[in-house]
Amino acid sequence: MTSGMVALQQDSNQTSGEPAHKTDDAADAPIGVFDSGIGGLSVLKYIRACLPREQLLYFADSGYAPYGGRSESEIVARSLAIAEFLMQYRMKALVVACNTATAAAIKALRERYPALPVVGVEPGLKPAAALTQTGTVGVLATERTLTSAKFNLLRQQISAATNVRFLPQPCKGLADQVEKGELHSASTAALLQRYVAPLLEEGADTLVLGCTHYPFVRPLIEEIVGRATSRPVAIVDTGEPVARQLVRLLTTRGLLRAEGAGTVTGFTTGSETALAGAFSRLLGLHPPVLQVTASA
Ligand code: DGL
Repeated sequence: MTSGMVALQQDSNQTSGEPAHKTDDAADAPIGVFDSGIGGLSVLKYIRACLPREQLLYFADSGYAPYGGRSESEIVARSLAIAEFLMQYRMKALVVACNTATAAAIKALRERYPALPVVGVEPGLKPAAALTQTGTVGVLATERTLTSAKFNLLRQQISAATNVRFLPQPCKGLADQVEKGELHSASTAALLQRYVAPLLEEGADTLVLGCTHYPFVRPLIEEIVGRATSRPVAIVDTGEPVARQLVRLLTTRGLLRAEGAGTVTGFTTGSETALAGAFSRLLGLHPPVLQVTASA
């Protein structure tokens, strides 16, 4: 693992309070958040809202994205390399803001760092089962997530308990469209039409966004749904529950940061300009962004 360590800087959007700094006080330590790319920003948004005083380190592994077509062992290696990188900052908790990495690597991360609170993100099958009226739920996610043992176990358990039918829909290429910033383009709309329309035809009245990139194309999904059916269709995104789980874990461990302004620092294995642009476009933030190498 190589990379220069940098001092955390205050988010330029957050002008009050003391600057972020590295410290030995456990509650003052930062929280690491990572994704294969910019998708995890859809989770970071809720983390900032729930934990406005925290220092957040966002790591986009864009140099290795997408994860959806990679092998499980590659994703485990990437996740461990990223965690090791973030550990330089003595993070007090890690959020795996990626369904694909959670399915492949959360066990390995918890084994490597047994004392570190690690929060993962999983497709919201349980809330979807509670919402559906037709008993049919479409699950949009990467191929890797949908073929993982973790997802299939969860699916079996919830189906057995509720009788809900889950229709898994791998969305090849969709995370890439989001990475490219194509949130409203004709090609993204065509891709979504191909993925979403068959689920609605099969009777799905609830759609699970099982990849953290997908909340950014929610408006397009809603348009497609609106054109295809007049029945109400619920869309389930797990960003907020993940943030609440993080709050619970930090609270139980006495790790909430009580004072100071919140900060965000971005790291990417891809282009700095691309990550800075995504922060600005998707969250209206202008944090410092650094290009780094985190070799497995
Ligand atoms: N954002 C990621 C997820 O939640 C995956 C996208 C990808 O890299 O394929 O699954």
